[in-house]
Parts: sequence; C-alpha cells; structure tokens
Amino acid sequence: MIISVEGIDGSGKTTQARLLAESLGHLEPPPLLVREPGGTGAGEGIRELLLNRELTISRETEILLYAAARAELLTQVIGPAVKAGRLIICDRYIDSTLAYQGYGLGGELDWIRDLNCRVVGSLTPSLTFLLDLPVERAAARRPGKADRVEQRETGFHQRVRRGYLELASLEEERFVILDALQSPEELRQVIWEQVQRRCLPPPGVE
Ligand code: TYD
Repeated sequence: MIISVEGIDGSGKTTQARLLAESLGHLEPPPLLVREPGGTGAGEGIRELLLNRELTISRETEILLYAAARAELLTQVIGPAVKAGRLIICDRYIDSTLAYQGYGLGGELDWIRDLNCRVVGSLTPSLTFLLDLPVERAAARRPGKADRVEQRETGFHQRVRRGYLELASLEEERFVILDALQSPEELRQVIWEQVQRRCLPPPGVE
C-alpha cells in the first residue's frame, strides 16, 4: 500500500507526511517515509541539480530527471520495502510531475504518464492527500530563499494548483482534497481518520 501526500510548495505536506508516519509508527513492519525527488544517493544529487537556481534546465530534461530520481527510489528503496510488507508514505510522487511539469510548464501529460508508468509499474498510490490552498497564502508560508521551482511566477503556481485539482477530479476515489488552511493538528486528525477507515484493518482483525 502506498499513500502519497501532494500539494503546492508551502502547503504543509512534508509536515503532514511526517505526522502520518509517526501515527503509524506502531505498525509491524514499520511504515517507510520517502520524499521526492531524493531518498537515494543519486536521487539527492538529482534533487540538487533540479533545485539549483543557477541552472537553466529544459522542461523535457526536468521530466526525465524527476523520472530518473523516481526510478532510483523505486529500485533501491520502495520496491524492497513493499516486498517486506511495509506501508509506504510518499512526500510527493508521480502526481507532482503531472502537476508541475505537465500543467505548470505545459509538458505533454500522456508522455509523463507513460514514462512514469514504466518507472513505477504497479507501485502506484492507492490513497493521495491533496493539501489545497490559495497560491498567495502558500507563498507567504515559505521560509528562506526561493529555490529554482519556488522562484517561478505566480501564474505557474496557479496552474500547478489547478492541475492538482483537475487530477483529483479525474480520480475521485483515490484523492482526498483537504483545506490546507486548517491547523496542522486539524489536518493531522482528518488524515488519520481517513487512513484508519481506508487502509487499516478494523480493530480485532489481525
Ligand atoms: P519539496 O520537497 O516539496 O520542496 P521543499 O524541500 O522546498 O519542501 O519539492 C521540491 C520541489 O520539486 C518542489 O518545488 C516541487 C518540485 N517537483 C516537481 O516540479 N516535479 C516533481 O515531479 C517533483 C517530485 C517535485
């Protein structure tokens, strides 16, 4: 079982992914929390490249680099963990590439889908939390200096947000859209209730 947490930069998804991993800490074997891009030696190197403000990288190269980092994560980390029976929590996954490089930058959605299907195979999320909030509110929350993606114009982030909402409307069963303006504790509670209802066996069932 793979659960992903998605949203625009500043939506608070990293906090919620971490809190969910904490809430599921009692599981045996324990859940695995991964972040994208990254999570492997090569993946962290690719992340640095992708977020480097000094570099100009074409849209297609970006799509390939995110897919390459994902391929490493699948082979080295997610695949073995799934085999070992662990629940996986992904801080971003394929939907990020569709939203950012597809809707945000105008990349071809079918190509992104095909490429990533080859990379992840059957290891797709069965539940995805989308933390949604207005772009201006998210921008105000982001600390420090903007990276290569964050520094893009507001219109880009608006397209990413709308893209995410469209992806959610295409797969209503998988996505849960959450109002990310709620407090972290409120969000944690809603996410926990959904995970208990949809992913965990009822009490008393082994
Ligand atoms: P993230 O870890 O959310 O950023 P931060 O560490 O600042 O919280 O993600 C890094 C950036 O990569 C983010 O701006 C979104 C971008 N991204 C894409 O554009 N496409 C992708 O496929 C992925 C996984 C991330």
